[in-house]
Amino acid sequence: MATTVLTGIQWGDEGKGKIIDVLTEKADVIVRFQGGANAGHTVEIGDERFILHLIPSGILRAGKLCIIGNGVVVDPLGLVAEIQALEERGLELRSRLQISNRAHLVFSYHRAADTWRETSAATPAIGTTRRGIGPAYADKANRIGIRAGDLRHPARLEERFRRQVEAYNQKFEVQGLELLEADREWRELREAAELLAPMVTDTVLTVNRAVRAGKELLFEGAQGLWLDIDYGTYPFVTSSNTSVGGACTGGGLGPKQVDWIYGVVKAYTTRVGEGPFPTELTDDQGEHLRRVGKEYGATTGRPRRCGWFDAVGCRYAVMLNSVDRLAVTKLDVLDDLAEIKICTAYRLDGELLSEMPADTEDILRAEPVYEDMPGWQHPTSQARSWDDLPANAQSYLERIVELLEVKIGLVSTGPHRCETFFR
Ligand code: GDP
Ligand code: IMO
Ligand code: MG
Repeated sequence: MATTVLTGIQWGDEGKGKIIDVLTEKADVIVRFQGGANAGHTVEIGDERFILHLIPSGILRAGKLCIIGNGVVVDPLGLVAEIQALEERGLELRSRLQISNRAHLVFSYHRAADTWRETSAATPAIGTTRRGIGPAYADKANRIGIRAGDLRHPARLEERFRRQVEAYNQKFEVQGLELLEADREWRELREAAELLAPMVTDTVLTVNRAVRAGKELLFEGAQGLWLDIDYGTYPFVTSSNTSVGGACTGGGLGPKQVDWIYGVVKAYTTRVGEGPFPTELTDDQGEHLRRVGKEYGATTGRPRRCGWFDAVGCRYAVMLNSVDRLAVTKLDVLDDLAEIKICTAYRLDGELLSEMPADTEDILRAEPVYEDMPGWQHPTSQARSWDDLPANAQSYLERIVELLEVKIGLVSTGPHRCETFFR
């Protein structure tokens, strides 16, 4: 398939990084299209563990071209640190990393504003990653953002940056926050700009030339559908379109160029941060999933909230993303359980709901209606084909297929490349 979009269909951390790494073997170009350093995509290769925040996970395979698309918000200091950390681990990447000149930049004032918003009594906490994502997208929408293209024009960059620092300092003064030192901030930015400028280009052209040349392109989503600014559990969402549409607006791709869509889904559910979570387990079973699944945030280290599989929300995500195939991850985390539950509907005010409500207050009040499935109590990490799976694991996955009305294309039973098979 020439152009594949891979997107999370829960609250993020579905294992997108691992699946991207597997699919990258056959791809030529890998494109991140939204989000920023709020993402943490883990890839385990042998004894090594890599966590990518801004750079596409495809970078770990030699020779692959990686693009940070226009829909991403790029923290230049964070990106430089990420590049240097990978170089220290022996990766050659500058010649095969491109940054869209249209991508908006994230600065320290965005991070400070994010933290203020999280801690201020005036606004309810969302539990953001405090990476400045919301304020950076807000500046973009407000048409006062600074774009990566400016990294190639130091004089213009300096003027715009100093003006913004001054404007933010005025707000920070009122809010009683520490003021930014413009000179020091600019020195750091100038250094980062020098390093990044050669990689900044019109990636819309790169993407479309690659499409025309018949190359294999892989679009790597960040976060997941329930964190989408339009379709997620607003306001407990991130500030970008995490859905497949984001690959077009944020990756430079026309909608008719999308050939194939993978929805990545964990065999259970996790969430980091605040907001509704109908199938959340706050008991020993939730603790079991967290421990066995090592459910701690790849970006912030926060413990992830854990719960049963929510077929109501996943069906909604499959519909909105036109998912062709599911990539089901972390099946192995359920290996020890005697019984597993799937949420097939919500109960709200005595009524059964089979569709995800738009009103977040309704989702907060909704109670999950469960179906019980027998566990398989047998290790699955050695499975290399569908037939290797225990019968009860097959039944569990088949039930998900029925409920979501979409086939499974790929199953993952461990963090490593080899712990994956296609169906
Ligand atoms: P992403 O943000 O969607 O890329 O996911 P994260 O990297 O934040 O979280 C997924 C975690 O699960 C990482 O630590 C992965 O190494 C790990 N992982 C991915 N697939 C599997 C799997 O099938 N089984 C197990 N046990 N771990 C997995
Ligand atoms: P990946 O790509 C899981 C969550 C935060 C918070 C909300 C808003 O690794 O799946 P933000 O910093 O974006 O303003 O935070 O979104 N969040 C994620 N949760 N995985 C992610 O990315 C996330 N990126 C943001 O925890 O609840
Ligand atoms: Mg993650």
